[in-house]
Amino acid sequence: MAVKDIQLPYFDLLLAQLDQGNARLELAFGRHVHWGYWPQVPQGVVSPADFAWAAENLTREVYGAAGMENGQRVLDVGCGLGGTIASLNENFSGVELIGLNIDPRQLIRAQEKVKARSGNLIHFTEGNACWLPFPGQFFEVVLAVECIFHFPQRRKFFEEASRVLKPGGRLALSDFVPRAFLLPLAALSKRWPFSKGFFGRCNLQCTIAQYRSLAKDTGFKLRVEKDITENTLPTYPFLRAMGTELNIRDPSAKFETWIVEWASRLRLLRYLVLSFEKLR
Ligand SMILES: C[S@@+](CC[C@H](N)C(=O)[O-])C[C@H]1O[C@@H](n2cnc3c(N)ncnc32)[C@H](O)[C@@H]1O
Repeated sequence: MAVKDIQLPYFDLLLAQLDQGNARLELAFGRHVHWGYWPQVPQGVVSPADFAWAAENLTREVYGAAGMENGQRVLDVGCGLGGTIASLNENFSGVELIGLNIDPRQLIRAQEKVKARSGNLIHFTEGNACWLPFPGQFFEVVLAVECIFHFPQRRKFFEEASRVLKPGGRLALSDFVPRAFLLPLAALSKRWPFSKGFFGRCNLQCTIAQYRSLAKDTGFKLRVEKDITENTLPTYPFLRAMGTELNIRDPSAKFETWIVEWASRLRLLRYLVLSFEKLR
């Protein structure tokens, strides 16, 4: 896809800062671009290194839910800068790891930074989550770490994941999942006049009941549903501190983060790790 059509302003900012050599941002977001997971609430200020550790934990939560094993072929959809592929490469042997992303700029960074260990294979490829460029029954595991809300349609992605997975294979993902009664408010928030979409197009409107029915319709069964909202909350003060440090002026950056933070603190929005088994 042409870079001008991607419209993820937060990635434009991140990539520009990384190109300029911002070491603190590189430490925090140079590998994973997602929320952190803290097993216990940390005392004091979270540093970029602490955040990077927590972001790595979150990745492991997601692929742990997929029951990753040595020797598997894995597709990481919306692979960002290659952090999940890097972690799998470091922790598993005999694996073939494919990272797919719609943004060629991110893939260039991933390719430069993530090199296969002996016995593993790594490829990065450009593509859209809703039209996966792979044959049927090709993968044991499909992952989508904190990115499904950007995809054009969750249903189409589930259909595609189901097509490319072998029977018994796993689809594991993390997502912000609203309580059903939050949906009218979520729809209203789209009309907020200051929102210019720093985080691009985000659809945070798939409830757990909708996930179950999506799974049923596309040949999956929900096997793991883990609520890690509490463990992700230290992400928000860290994002605020980085926003101040970078002097981010876009009001939608603050507003959207604030909405997600408070909806999460009030448990109206839950951060879930979900894993689905392909049945047929
Ligand atoms: C929050 S980032 C997460 C990146 C990565 N999964 C990680 O955890 O570090 C969201 C990612 O989804 C990618 N993305 C957005 N829409 C996509 C689509 N339709 N197909 C494939 N990737 C997409 C973005 O380019 C970005 O890399």
